[in-house]
Amino acid sequence: MQDFDIKRKILSYDRAVPRYTSYPAAPVFQAEFPAETVTGWIDTLKDGSHLSLYVHVPFCPKLCHYCGCFTHITSRYAPVEDYVHLLRREISKMGARMQNKHVVTHLHFGGGSPTMLLPQDFRLLMDTFREFFTFSDTAEIAVEVDPRHMNEDLANTYGDVGVNRISLGVQDFDDKVMETVNRVQPFDVVYEAVRHLRAAGIQDFNLDFIYGLPYQTVRSMTRSMDYALLLKPSRFAMYGYAHVPWKKKNMRLIPDESLPNNDERYDLFLTGSRILEEAGYRSIGIDHFVKDTDDMAIAQKDGTLGRNFQGYTNIAPDALIGFGVSAISQYPQGYAQNTTASHSYQETVLHSDLPPISKGYSFKGEDIARKSIIDQLMCDLRVNLFEVWASFGHDLSKLDDSLSLLKPFIADGLASLSPDGVLQIAPEARQSVRIIASCFDEYLPPIETTQRHSMAV
Ligand SMILES: C[S@@+](CC[C@H](N)C(=O)[O-])C[C@H]1O[C@@H](n2cnc3c(N)ncnc32)[C@H](O)[C@@H]1O
Ligand code: SF4
Repeated sequence: MQDFDIKRKILSYDRAVPRYTSYPAAPVFQAEFPAETVTGWIDTLKDGSHLSLYVHVPFCPKLCHYCGCFTHITSRYAPVEDYVHLLRREISKMGARMQNKHVVTHLHFGGGSPTMLLPQDFRLLMDTFREFFTFSDTAEIAVEVDPRHMNEDLANTYGDVGVNRISLGVQDFDDKVMETVNRVQPFDVVYEAVRHLRAAGIQDFNLDFIYGLPYQTVRSMTRSMDYALLLKPSRFAMYGYAHVPWKKKNMRLIPDESLPNNDERYDLFLTGSRILEEAGYRSIGIDHFVKDTDDMAIAQKDGTLGRNFQGYTNIAPDALIGFGVSAISQYPQGYAQNTTASHSYQETVLHSDLPPISKGYSFKGEDIARKSIIDQLMCDLRVNLFEVWASFGHDLSKLDDSLSLLKPFIADGLASLSPDGVLQIAPEARQSVRIIASCFDEYLPPIETTQRHSMAV
């Protein structure tokens, strides 16, 4: 198929769908979910389970207008320091409940901006984790870094306490784009951040880029990617800008006319991905690009690549435990989300034995089979539908609705379905993965109801 033809077809299906970092997606979670259900899930984890821990740091000194993350803006350190105290309580209570029976294979600091934490507070958190949890020798310890906050002291602290992977928020290198989104961050700021981190012994780093930002053009994207390659990162993430101004007021500060339309967004992604592929990065899922030697490329070849709230992962834990406001946990039985209300978080962490849960979801019916299909499509662009369905003992006729939703994509050559049930998305139709995966989503509202998600392309 010609490039133009495939683009036209992909764009004709564009609609608002989840990013499928969970299935069902977070808007389906139930309010006032009982925390006792979650403690039951924690207590029934098998001894020796592998844990992935996530810490949410909901503070930034300045608001980026495109930001979709859960964060508060503060120029004072006192609230951050108080929050560290609460996090330590939450970590120690969870640790005491788990009685050191499990092994941590992954710890991720996200936000907001974890780089708001002063070196002594970052150390305190790491000490608390190590006091209450056993880490595997090869555990990945990752931090989302705002390059504007990085300095020698912070980089050395990260190196000292065992941080071995960094994700740097770059977004773009174009001055006009970055000024419009209220994030002035010239190349030399990112360069210096990388230099400090490498000098501290941290070699594995990822650069986060966003396509679809105001005033981005194919030309500006080409220049930004050329700059980015000078930094020789091991991975790139190229996220599609999720514009949800009805949910995030800060996005209303971005003038509508400055935003690329979906035709232009498509070209921006294609431009970025072609440059990265020509530079030797392999495309993973919908938005990652990694060197062939990277753990994520190896996981994809082995068929062990997974997807969770942090996006793609080469680490397949038995449970993911989230700490801090808004953090989401995943257990074999379902999801649990911590409250987003600071006061309620504080009250529960200080005065209750239960985790500070507000929402959650218990898997039921065909959820896990559908989740497995969606995860495999998002990771590998391929899944044996009949095999997955049979492995959960479900009746094949229950897949009929999804199979009929798939038909137009197959007729248009964006995907194929073999007689034995192998669904394969065409590599050139990668940008329609979320939309094709949504054929298996039982909870997706019809197109005409209120929009909850960003557009897929
Ligand atoms: C928590 S931030 C990273 C750490 C730090 N706060 C920073 O911005 O450098 C996580 C990443 O989410 C991505 N992101 C934030 N808002 C987004 C949006 N609306 N659409 C797509 N990606 C977004 C950005 O690439 C950002 O680097
Ligand atoms: S993108 Fe990062 S620095 Fe900017 S407001 Fe969001 S979390 Fe904070």
